[in-house]
Amino acid sequence: MPNDGFSPEEGEKPCCNLSKKAKVGLGIFICVLVVATVIPVVLKWYPAPKHKEWNGPGTTPHFPEIVLGRCYTYTQVLRPELRHMDCQEIAKAFMRAFLSKDPCSSAEQDYQQLLRLTNQTIPCGTSVFWSKSNELAHQYTKVQWAMFTLEDMLVGYMADNLDWCGDHSSSDMNYESCPHWRKDCTTNPKSVFWDAVSRRFAENACGVVQVVLNGSISNTFDRNSTFGRVEIHNLYPGKVPTLQAWVMHDVGGVHRHSCSSPDINDLKLILRNRNIRFTCQDDYRPIKFLQCVTNSEHSSCNSVM
Ligand SMILES: *[C@@H]1O[C@H](CO)[C@@H](O)[C@H](O)[C@H]1NC(C)=O
Ligand SMILES: *[C@@H]1O[C@H](CO)[C@@H](O)[C@H](O)[C@H]1NC(C)=O
Ligand SMILES: *[C@@H]1O[C@H](CO)[C@@H](O)[C@H](O)[C@H]1NC(C)=O
Repeated sequence: MPNDGFSPEEGEKPCCNLSKKAKVGLGIFICVLVVATVIPVVLKWYPAPKHKEWNGPGTTPHFPEIVLGRCYTYTQVLRPELRHMDCQEIAKAFMRAFLSKDPCSSAEQDYQQLLRLTNQTIPCGTSVFWSKSNELAHQYTKVQWAMFTLEDMLVGYMADNLDWCGDHSSSDMNYESCPHWRKDCTTNPKSVFWDAVSRRFAENACGVVQVVLNGSISNTFDRNSTFGRVEIHNLYPGKVPTLQAWVMHDVGGVHRHSCSSPDINDLKLILRNRNIRFTCQDDYRPIKFLQCVTNSEHSSCNSVM
């Protein structure tokens, strides 16, 4: 071995007049001192990455578990004809769409793989759209088991009523807050997701389709709603000959709009320009029945029952 001048024998010069015990004690003391001062300084320089603060609610707790569980519930229990679908892959594709990404730069492209894995065909004439009538429209398809709203499709079922977003500086979900579509940005993971899946739901629709509208509010037909902004513009006229609208009024509530309102005429004109026939009916009986189940005493329900 070449003598480089740092062999242990040479380096270990007898030091000071301390006993071995004292030297060990001093060593430990210095170590503790270094650790105690260095760690806080390092932590101060490199704080744990903190998520940015947004104005919308954070990711729903247990989001990955909920998505995976709903996927299995849907494909194994509710619609077993889809039991071949790979829920592990589907849930992974969902997470990959937004994790480690800037939550204000979300794009429909991010969800392509999820959309591909959850491709689901339903029979013609079974698509039900809704706007401002969330609860009633879903009561309707719950009874009419053969009809489908977007939330009755696998992809909509998995995400219904959940919040989610990530952060480009972290591979975790942001459980504290997520971008609000109006106060922060419209290109957030959740809004982009619903636009993407709504567009596909409309594109895939065939036969006569239906929409449940809310006649008890001022914006019965809202051009800024998902229905007015995305869905009606993505129906294929070659596949969808007719859209049937049901304008429903709350039992005992106000009638802001009906089929003869100018608002509804707007909808009719948009569809006419797209070569899709439009029909409209106020308080469609099969849906009115459902409203009357919980309002059976109301006079307007006498003629229905
Ligand atoms: C979805 O499935 C249909 C038929 O099952 C098929 O024609 C279509 O190409 C599929 N779309 C995608 C994006 O995989
Ligand atoms: C109409 O909208 C109001 C306010 O959101 C809601 O309370 C009501 O249940 C809706 N009515 C129908 C028929 O969907
Ligand atoms: C739709 O939204 C845009 C932007 O948020 C707004 O400027 C416009 O007034 C809205 N239009 C309607 C009809 O509500």
